[in-house]
Amino acid sequence: MDVVIVGAGVIGLAIAWRSAQRGLDVTIVDPRPASEASYVAAGMLAPVGELAYGEEELLRLGIASRDRYSAFVAELEELTGHDTGYRDEDTVQVAFDSDDLAFLDDLRRFQETLGLPATPLSGRECRRLEPMLAPSVRGGLLAERNGSIDPRRLTAALLAAVERAGARLVRRRVTRVLVEAGRAVGVRTEAGDDVRADQVVLATGAWTHRLAGLPPDVVPVIRPVKGQVVRLRTRVPFLTRTVRGVVKGSSIYVVPRSDGEIVIGATQEELGYDTTVTAGGLWELLRDARELIPGITELEFAEVCAGLRPGSPDNAPVLGPAALPGLLLATGHFRNGILLAPVTGDVVSEALTTGEVPDVVRAFTPERFAKEIPA
Ligand code: GLY
Repeated sequence: MDVVIVGAGVIGLAIAWRSAQRGLDVTIVDPRPASEASYVAAGMLAPVGELAYGEEELLRLGIASRDRYSAFVAELEELTGHDTGYRDEDTVQVAFDSDDLAFLDDLRRFQETLGLPATPLSGRECRRLEPMLAPSVRGGLLAERNGSIDPRRLTAALLAAVERAGARLVRRRVTRVLVEAGRAVGVRTEAGDDVRADQVVLATGAWTHRLAGLPPDVVPVIRPVKGQVVRLRTRVPFLTRTVRGVVKGSSIYVVPRSDGEIVIGATQEELGYDTTVTAGGLWELLRDARELIPGITELEFAEVCAGLRPGSPDNAPVLGPAALPGLLLATGHFRNGILLAPVTGDVVSEALTTGEVPDVVRAFTPERFAKEIPA
């Protein structure tokens, strides 16, 4: 076998699909495919909306992936007949009070320095775009081409595509990475059987560095960052595009889907591997969403859940060959896993087939966390 991929979330599945398409013999191992962070995610495709100061390289990567999305989805939908809920549209970013508006104005200026103009909007212009916004919304920005996708539909389509492309899915938990003569040679599953391969890819999110068998310092610590997300349901038109808001300094987003689902997210909490849904988390999300969109309280409650974003030491993804020969990493996607799936699938499958890492991810290879060797 050429490749074993550990983890069948959106990242592992995208890599498996693209690698099998390139003719590699692929096995993907996961006890619960399409679960964890991929199942909880809202699915915003927002390289600009999720932008933080100092993350220009990540912005470029996000834009590169966003620009691949419509072709990626078209191919996937055509191949599998699945609808992924993809929407390529603008996002409106709105401010609750004047401090929030000042924050958005700073963000707009920062985006402009990166050559990404965002259109400033008055409160009235925001409401013209989205009539459900509260009369008190102070103003905002229109961020072009920050669309969304339904991650649950996306991973279902990817699973079908992976199967069609001839990859095998093993529904078992991996207990260790197998290393022989200084090289990764496969993985052992909970059943005690070994899955051997020329190359091993870890697409295991916040659990990556915890896998047994890895030599020290080969995988940076990937910390879990909890996000609680609420899902509501509407039978009548409610929002036409994603609304991101700043409410007294707190960020919130409300993502509408064509099937009537409305997703509100997300808390950002560093509490280890805890995925408890808390009354406080739920209350904060609904409170802030109601400040911006009062009609939200009329919608049917559908679900609340929590997932763990994988955060690397610099919050950017870790992509490509690790210091251990035969091992590749595809982890640390933090708040951008769904957005970065197409580019990750392309670049990791290229690295697996050619041994080369494409330029677009040079800044994100595992080498940046290599320990200094003392003189
Ligand atoms: N990308 C949205 C989030 O991480 O909450």
